[in-house]
Formats: sequence, C-alpha cells, structure tokens
Amino acid sequence: MTDKKAVITLITGADKGIGFETAQALGKKGQHVLIGARNQERGEKAVKQLKAAGIKADFVQLDVTKKEQIKAAAKQIQADYGYLSILINNAGIAMDHHEPASQLSTDTIRQDFDVNYFGLIDVTQAMIPLLKAGKPAKIINLSSNMGSMGLASDPNSRFYKVNSLGYQSSKAAVNFATIIFSKELAADGITVNSVNPGWTATGFGGRPEDAPKLEGMQDVATGAAQVIKMASLPLDDKTTGTFTENAGTLPW
Ligand SMILES: NC(=O)c1ccc[n+]([C@@H]2O[C@H](COP(=O)([O-])OP(=O)(O)OC[C@H]3O[C@@H](n4cnc5c(N)ncnc54)[C@H](OP(=O)(O)O)[C@@H]3O)[C@@H](O)[C@H]2O)c1
Repeated sequence: MTDKKAVITLITGADKGIGFETAQALGKKGQHVLIGARNQERGEKAVKQLKAAGIKADFVQLDVTKKEQIKAAAKQIQADYGYLSILINNAGIAMDHHEPASQLSTDTIRQDFDVNYFGLIDVTQAMIPLLKAGKPAKIINLSSNMGSMGLASDPNSRFYKVNSLGYQSSKAAVNFATIIFSKELAADGITVNSVNPGWTATGFGGRPEDAPKLEGMQDVATGAAQVIKMASLPLDDKTTGTFTENAGTLPW
C-alpha cells in the first residue's frame, strides 16, 4: 500500500495529447499519476517517459467503452493503492465532422456518446468507491466550449454557427453529468467540475499529431493548463459544479 498522503491521480486517455501533458505536469508537482490508456504499448511508453523524468507513474489498461476493463482497473487500483484522490475523465473522440444534423448517422453519434459520455459515466461510477476511500477527492471532466448550449444559442458567439451534433451533444451531456454528480457527491467530500481545454494542437479528431499548428490553435501546454490548475487545487477545496477554461467561467 502507498502512503495515505500520496495524491493518486487517474487520467483516462493519458498516453498522448492533453492527457499526457496533464500527467506530466501533475507528476512534476508530486502526484502519483496512473496512465489510463486503451493501447498497452502506447500507455507503457508514456509511463516509461514519465518515469525517466522522475515522475511516479503506472499504467492502467483502460478502454472506457469496455465495462470489464473498467472493473478490472478499479480492482487493480484498489489492490495497489487502496484509494484515488483525483479522477480526470480526459478520454474523448469526435467522430462527426460538421456534417449537417439532417444527414448525420446516429451510428456516428453513438460512437461519440460511447466514449465521451457513457464511458465517462462508467469510469466515474466504478471509481467513486476509491474516491470515497481517498476523500477529499476530485473528479475533473474534459468538456468543450463546443458543448456549451449557452454559446451555441448565442448569435454573438463564434460557436453559434458551429454544427457537430454528435460531439457537441455528447459534451453537453458531460456537462450535465458534472452538475448532477457534483450535487450527489458533495456530501462525500468529492468535487466534480467540467473544464474546456480550448482548440488545441493534438491528434484530436484524426488530425495528424505532427501537423503544423493552425491559426488560433493553442499548444498542448496551454490546452492542459486549466485541467492542471483544477487538479492542483488543495484536495479539500470546495469548488464544485463549475465549467471553466483558462479565460474563466463558461456558460453551460
Ligand atoms: N484538442 C482539442 O482541440 C480539444 C478541444 C476541446 C476539448 N477537447 C477534449 O480534450 C480531451 C483530450 O483530447 P486531446 O486533444 O488530448 O485528444 P487526443 O490527443 O486525440 O487524445 C485523446 C485520448 O483519448 C483516448 N481515447 C479515445 N478513445 C478511448 C477509449 N475508448 N478508451 C480510452 N481512451 C480513449 C485516446 O487514446 P488512443 O491513443 O488509444 O487513441 C487518447 O489517449 C478530449 O475529451 C477532447 O474532447 C479537446
């Protein structure tokens, strides 16, 4: 068993992109990061890289769409550490690419929801007993400004004309999960918050990871900054039920 005082942080989809950047930054602050990844080779490579930088890191096989794997991950964390301090639901996909809603297949929308929403719910439910054992604890959900219904319905917002029904509604659903879980878990000493990283130069949505940054795109460190900030608040900080980005609070 690890020292009870260690901050144990599980990050889903942490083998690359914003998840890996977050793991690296939190690891450097002394957190023991558990690298959730569906691909063992990429996950173990990420762990090796973090360990080489002096970070306490371990691999957890975790495809968020596979309930048996989620169950096994929770069992492994229970056996190895006995608790969790922070869960960062970072894994995400965008299978739709601005097709008109009238033509978008529900098969595509389901794929977005399977990872971004149902995967997040399954992982959260499985990890709650570990978070209760490690409380005060935090859950941070990676949402998106594209999931903000306030921005999407505001004619003055640049998101008014954005149209990605599957991805946007899955992230709006994530925000609802944040609100509902934050209320249920407040009495257990677990905070739940949504974060928007902003448009970030990762391999997200099938973009080649090494492609040059487009105008207006942030680097990965900037994209991960608000997640890192929220995960670095003292564990007993009471901030809960919020939706924020680097620039401040976003409308739901
Ligand atoms: N980049 C942006 O512009 C942007 C903007 C707003 C919000 N976000 C959100 O930020 C989060 C991180 O995105 P990113 O930019 O870092 O994208 P990324 O580089 O594509 O990383 C996504 C991560 O999610 C993992 N993943 C996908 N499906 C999974 C599954 N079924 N089970 C477990 N892991 C799975 C990927 O694993 P594999 O390596 O196996 O594919 C990868 O590790 C996402 O939730 C995304 O929606 C991103």
